[in-house]
Amino acid sequence: MTFTSDALAGRVALITGGGSGIGFGIAKAMAAAGAKLVLASRNAERLDAAVKELTGLGAEVIAVQADVRNYEAVEHAVARAVEAFGSLDIVIANAAGNFVVPAAEMSPNAWKTVIDIDLNGTYFCARASHAALKASSFGGRFIAISTTRALEGWPGCAHAGAAKAGIMSLIRTLCGEWGKDGIRCNTIAPGAIGDTEGVKRIYEDAGRKELELSSIPLGEFGRTADIANAAVFLCSDAGSYVTGADIVVDGGRNRSRSSTGVAVPAK
Ligand code: HXC
Ligand code: NAP
Repeated sequence: MTFTSDALAGRVALITGGGSGIGFGIAKAMAAAGAKLVLASRNAERLDAAVKELTGLGAEVIAVQADVRNYEAVEHAVARAVEAFGSLDIVIANAAGNFVVPAAEMSPNAWKTVIDIDLNGTYFCARASHAALKASSFGGRFIAISTTRALEGWPGCAHAGAAKAGIMSLIRTLCGEWGKDGIRCNTIAPGAIGDTEGVKRIYEDAGRKELELSSIPLGEFGRTADIANAAVFLCSDAGSYVTGADIVVDGGRNRSRSSTGVAVPAK
């Protein structure tokens, strides 16, 4: 299923981590719905490859090399979007880092690294883009990609779980503060998305694929397109009255768990 080719016509979207995985899926779907794109992440080769593929599909897209832990770099990415396309209407704070390590064995710098990328990076994106989103003629959209695991604890990934829970709180605050500016602020909370490196590394390579699948009522991992479709909906006119929401896209896993949960260590 796809949206109409003009569902996001005239909008400019900045997607952090837009060169791979879920971010790239969102980029493809937004381009197909008529948005112009700015992809921002650290790896220039990855960005170049993504720009090439999207351009081949007919998209208008530029890339900006930026580490979301660096506020000035994020500000520069926002400025480049406005400079290149004249406005910035949509920001998808998608960039993240994660790896499996039990909390008691995690180094302080490992903790700090993930908090810096996921939580601080999301705040930096919001702070740097507020003025541009407020000026959007469509009503700005700020979407952070969270995870359902933030709602329940995440053995093996304490840093990412805490960062994503912080992101969910941040978005509630921004919803309250930025409604008057016309900016809709939401999270999308994916479950396990099968066509990503993360699920391969964290579940499949760790021998946990079958266990994870058994916890999903729909019986299969999600696809990047499932998350992309939620993002297009939220950023289109059809999503204009939705703000402060966590859009859970997880095949029912989160809602179907018992109160004791399946708290199986990830390693
Ligand atoms: C323990 C680790 C570690 C590991 C890194 N560290 N990997 N500790 N186990 N596997 C520690 C390092 O030893 C170091 O601490 C600190 O973390 C920083 O590591 P660096 O390599 O210097 O960091 P950096 O180069 O900035 O890279 C960031 C990164 C990296 C997060 C560590 O993995 C990365 O760039 N990831 C981006 C891609 C990614 O993670 N995608 C997943 C997205 S989320 P010390 O103390 O030694 O200095 C996702 C969710 C899946 O996929 C959900 C499934 C349901
Ligand atoms: P991914 O392919 O590894 O994507 C992560 C992206 O973030 C990469 O493009 C990476 O690009 C970028 N990035 C990482 N650190 C960065 C930094 N410091 N500054 C700028 N960009 C940075 O992972 P994914 O699976 O698509 O995950 C995307 C989002 O979905 C994340 O927020 C993740 O937590 C969330 N999520 C994923 C799943 C899943 O099943 N995969 C489930 C729940 C939630 P560079 O290397 O070029 O910087």
